[in-house]
Amino acid sequence: PSRSKEVARQMARALSPPVFQLLKDLGGVGEELDVSVYAVGGFVRDLMLGMENSDIDVTVEGDGILFAETFAERFGCRVKSHHKFGTAVIVLPDGLKIDVASTRLEYYDSPGALPTVERSSLKMDLYRRDFTINTLAVLLNSRGFGLLIDYFGAQRDLQEKVIRVLHNLSFVEDPTRVFRAIRFEQRLGFHIAIHTENLIKNAVKMNFLERLGGKRLLSELVHILREHEPQRAIERLAMLGLLPFIHQHLELTAELHRLLDETRKILSWFDLLFLGASCERWVVYFLALTAALSDDEFWETCGRLAVSEHYRERLADNRRQGSRTLNTLERLIADQMQLLPSDIYLLLKDLTVEILLFLMARTTGEEARRVVSLYFTKLRNVRISVTGHDLEALDIPHGPRYRQILDSILAARLNGQVNSREDELRLLADLSRTVA
Ligand code: CTP
Repeated sequence: PSRSKEVARQMARALSPPVFQLLKDLGGVGEELDVSVYAVGGFVRDLMLGMENSDIDVTVEGDGILFAETFAERFGCRVKSHHKFGTAVIVLPDGLKIDVASTRLEYYDSPGALPTVERSSLKMDLYRRDFTINTLAVLLNSRGFGLLIDYFGAQRDLQEKVIRVLHNLSFVEDPTRVFRAIRFEQRLGFHIAIHTENLIKNAVKMNFLERLGGKRLLSELVHILREHEPQRAIERLAMLGLLPFIHQHLELTAELHRLLDETRKILSWFDLLFLGASCERWVVYFLALTAALSDDEFWETCGRLAVSEHYRERLADNRRQGSRTLNTLERLIADQMQLLPSDIYLLLKDLTVEILLFLMARTTGEEARRVVSLYFTKLRNVRISVTGHDLEALDIPHGPRYRQILDSILAARLNGQVNSREDELRLLADLSRTVA
């Protein structure tokens, strides 16, 4: 009981007041329905580590759907129930979602049949999980709020910073756990226990990962590449022989090491400069990871990962165009051609942010990097004030000339030849005379 108070205090400290109150409210509804309600999984793990986690998973010892529906009614939330699995999602007015699971499952195999009822227990529910550190549960009911349930030595493993499976068939049951193990290891700064690592090596040897569907493999890879600094995780993927499951020719070479390191530096440069600018970091890392593959191999990789047709084409196109652009740029620089800002703009304007960052990481040329960086910091956002209306006001006939004139004015602005609306209008007047 004293430990419960300690955990309750820790929750009050670590969680924001609304989240803390939410947990209390969940417990209150449990009390009312006379079922035990627990926060479980990653939420409790992170709580114990003093880390914020807004994914709240709840397990109800009893009928979770009834619980979720009662809670939703009481607190004006929406709820989506899945009777077959005894699970529900409560969606709070502010959009926060709570996943609810039950230890008691009741479902109908066919219409009119008697319901099948499966009873389980919290312990069984927790035993089915991936790693010991994810098996903690905290009671939320008002009576006993903060009671910590630890059946499988989770607290010890959190203390020892160890990722450990609960049983030998864990990776056979669910091969995605191999990737999860690596992700947690890197994110939390833990290490995979020796026996668990041997089970991974075994799963690799027995080719269990071949069976993993493309979508799930992609989702795990994206999760890894979205972590703060994924290069260590990629090293672990390589060390454990997992890269060939993504593509048989994928390997961690010295060049890939360099590229991943540069990618990290470029991304933190980008973060500093463009706070809030949208960039899919994982895409930049994915491009780096697959940089040594040929176009065909890149295409195969996207196929293996079940990347959607549309996105796959866009990615492959961008990648090809990016390579061509970088070659052109490096050649122009090598030939000591003078590059006007408008030339740089024209060269780079159709590339996505992700490809541009990838090119900066890939090039070993200082000057090429400076050019792309100039585009990012200055040229990309240059706009002119003259619009089609100004052209119409001069009675310029509609047609492709419009685009050409506006492009010329933009080029002049990029090159510093015009610097104000007045300058632009003067240039427009000149240009319109040459057309007449
Ligand atoms: N889980 C599992 N096997 C998987 C995926 C998930 O056993 N292949 C379990 C884990 O025990 C986890 C829980 O389901 O605690 C919830 O999954 P998820 O939300 O993906 O995990 P988190 O631990 O919350 O991870 P994250 O912090 O990355 O969201």
